Amino acid sequence: MQEQLNQIKSEFETEINNVDSFKSLEQIRIKYLSRNGIISSLFDKLKEVPKENKKELGKVLNELRDFAVNLFEQKKSEIESQTLLSTSKIDLTLPAHTIKIGSKHILNQTLEELKDIFKSMGFSVFEGPELESDYYNFEALNFPADHPARDMQDTFFINKKFLLRTHTSPVQIRVMEKMRPPVRAIMPGRVYRNEAINARSYCTFQQVEGLYVDRDVTFAELKGTLVSFAKQYYGENLKYRFRPSFFPFTEPSAEMDITCFLCKGSGCRVCKNSGWLEILGCGMVDPNVFNYVNYDSEEFTGYAFGMGIERIALLKYGINDIRIFFENDVRFLKQF
Ligand code: PHE
Repeated sequence: MQEQLNQIKSEFETEINNVDSFKSLEQIRIKYLSRNGIISSLFDKLKEVPKENKKELGKVLNELRDFAVNLFEQKKSEIESQTLLSTSKIDLTLPAHTIKIGSKHILNQTLEELKDIFKSMGFSVFEGPELESDYYNFEALNFPADHPARDMQDTFFINKKFLLRTHTSPVQIRVMEKMRPPVRAIMPGRVYRNEAINARSYCTFQQVEGLYVDRDVTFAELKGTLVSFAKQYYGENLKYRFRPSFFPFTEPSAEMDITCFLCKGSGCRVCKNSGWLEILGCGMVDPNVFNYVNYDSEEFTGYAFGMGIERIALLKYGINDIRIFFENDVRFLKQF
């Protein structure tokens, strides 16, 4: 009997050591450990042995069963961990994901560039409120009472007296109220216009206002400053022109154009076949404006200019739709 048991034990051992899959493991379980398996049926024989040997044989059979069950469990967990490794989707040799770092919005970059250029020419930076009164936005800037810009069509009015500023020019008045000449300042900020949204205009955008007031300030200085700015921003080879224009708060007034970024001057859809694109409005401060801030218009002269930051950037990078600045599509933003 003992010999038979040893034989079973060593056969079980060899067989389980050759196991390499759940399938063959299960076959061994059925062969040895199931209800009718070799080891379990050995227990049936206990009935046939004489009483005095029962205890001894029972002990040996229990030992054999425990041995087999232990070995079986060991093999099972071995196979489990092997299949987990081979079917796992993790490839530890792959390079790690790169971390994407955000960047400054192109409009903030543009504003910083504009500030740097004007600061290098001696301008300081001031800001004013976006919620303005009719007085600062229109009246003190010499807008007549019936000027079309005062129409609800163009301006977001809060009530009769207050509105969302339509340009940064009211900050000129606020600065001059606080300072005596010489004043040399730029005033960036957000402005609002009650306009239909399309590729060329948006209901809100940013402007940079410029103001220089002192004794004997001339139109030639205005041109010199703006040409120097435009060449620093767009490049030394820039072509430009000044065109007469009209603003209630400057006299004479002008607009500055640069060569169209798309057709380089030969005429296209973007520049309406003129070859030129407007970049800013400017002029000599109207003496009426000086009266509102108690500057003596016999003693002082000054120039002012204003430009849209979105527009300045559109023209530099050849972007054909202003709305793209506000959509925050990272595929656009990450190009800058
Ligand atoms: N405020 C004018 C505009 O919004 C621009 C401008 C500023 C023109 C200063 C002349 C002088 O169009």
